[in-house]
Amino acid sequence: MSNAVEIRHVTKVIENDGRKIRILNDVSLDVERGTMTAIVGKSGSGKTTLLSIASGIDSPTGGAVKILGQDFYEMKTAQQEKFRNQNIGLLFQNYHLIPELTCEENIRMPMCFSDKNVKEEIIEEWIRRVGLQDKRHYYPQQMSGGEQQRTAILRAIVNDPDIIFADEPTGALDSKTGANVIKFLGAYSRQAGKTIVLVTHDMDIAKGCDRVVEMADGRLVE
Ligand SMILES: Nc1ncnc2c1ncn2[C@@H]1O[C@H](COP(=O)(O)OP(=O)(O)OP(=O)(O)O)[C@@H](O)[C@H]1O
Ligand SMILES: [Mg+2]
Repeated sequence: MSNAVEIRHVTKVIENDGRKIRILNDVSLDVERGTMTAIVGKSGSGKTTLLSIASGIDSPTGGAVKILGQDFYEMKTAQQEKFRNQNIGLLFQNYHLIPELTCEENIRMPMCFSDKNVKEEIIEEWIRRVGLQDKRHYYPQQMSGGEQQRTAILRAIVNDPDIIFADEPTGALDSKTGANVIKFLGAYSRQAGKTIVLVTHDMDIAKGCDRVVEMADGRLVE
């Protein structure tokens, strides 16, 4: 199987004040294993919605999503949760760090729900490489936006997932730190054969990916 994700004729319709709004309109996309794909497009075009559906956190109104060959939205809820913990790393647009946990505790949090963790030495190396060694005992409210974002990136990969979905992973970072984060994710993808799907507004970052797709008004244009 060479596709990590197969999105087939996905639609998302939301009802608002009795009016139906079509946020995604017949979107199909194959994401090849081990590649890095960028989703670009104007604000409000449906990028976050598509990423949420592709990563199994928001169900489509129509169509199907296969993740690692499994029809995700046909699984039972308990099975979906287990599957996500084992195979998927998520990086949200607004980080979703846990305020009561320190930087390092946030990074390690997914390890509580999985036996598929990466080695201690590797976690230490990552913390150094993204420059969080002095912040490991800080709580999210004591960290800058960029530091929170880098914490969230390490948390997304700490369970050694096959696929990482990232919503604007460099949105809060200055261009140099942003480029470093992308270099880090790119190297991680190549070395470990990981699939990465990221949303970005930065064309330089998109150009560094294997493939770029564009969303416009809930549709996909290559
Ligand atoms: N629950 C909802 N109810 C109504 N409209 C919604 C809902 N969720 C999303 N939308 C609308 O769907 C559209 C797509 O939203 P989405 O968050 O996917 O956009 P985006 O491309 O990620 O934008 P941005 O670049 O600003 O993050 C937007 O117009 C948004 O207002
Ligand atoms: Mg978004």
